[in-house]
Amino acid sequence: TIRGVIFDLDGVLTDTAEFHYRSWQKLADEEGIPFNREMNEAMRGLSRRDSLLQMLGDRPLSEAEMERMMARKNEYYVEFTHTMGPEDLLPGVVPLLEQLRSRQIAIAIGSASKNAQLVVERLGIAPLVDAIADGHSVEQSKPAPDLFLHAASLIGVAPAECLVVEDAASGVEAALAAGMYAVGLGPTNRVGNAHAVLPNLDGVRWEDLLGKLGLKSQ
Ligand code: BG6
Ligand code: MG
Repeated sequence: TIRGVIFDLDGVLTDTAEFHYRSWQKLADEEGIPFNREMNEAMRGLSRRDSLLQMLGDRPLSEAEMERMMARKNEYYVEFTHTMGPEDLLPGVVPLLEQLRSRQIAIAIGSASKNAQLVVERLGIAPLVDAIADGHSVEQSKPAPDLFLHAASLIGVAPAECLVVEDAASGVEAALAAGMYAVGLGPTNRVGNAHAVLPNLDGVRWEDLLGKLGLKSQ
């Protein structure tokens, strides 16, 4: 039985993955660090600091310089979020959230982002969400299970009764490490370790998801 669904935010409910990418690209260009969309793929779902470390590779930087770069990347990103609204929800998201609510299944956000609260507000889905676990909630970020375990405790659902919806390899790993069901959105070379894989949530109903997981609707 699934009693709670934990949604990743960036790349699952909204296309902020693109905004994160463009912000890192701008920073990299300004700093003369080689970077492109493909390299960004390896950073999908990682925390701000882990993303920067990934981007820097073996370029050593002081802690102060790293802090400044992270702050600048975040400035660029927050600028993007100012233009966001409910129209930026990806197709299928609202119908699925409403279906879950009508079935009394708890809904949480489990996002590595420190901007998750802000983005959820801008998308206008705060009333549909029971709890938010974000980049401020735990020390260890994905692929560690901590964030999802925290989200599960916020909604009071046992990990084995939670389903995670993720677009990142690190997030799928985190869900599996937490002992939860995982649905991956995107190509199988990215999220193929999940129990079920879909291109996105467009037209996806709760019964379809349960079917894909080999579970029956209750
Ligand atoms: C994740 C994104 O949700 O949040 C990553 O997939 C991002 O791309 C991470 O780096 C941290 O976000 P923020 O807003 O705290 O920099
Ligand atoms: Mg994501």
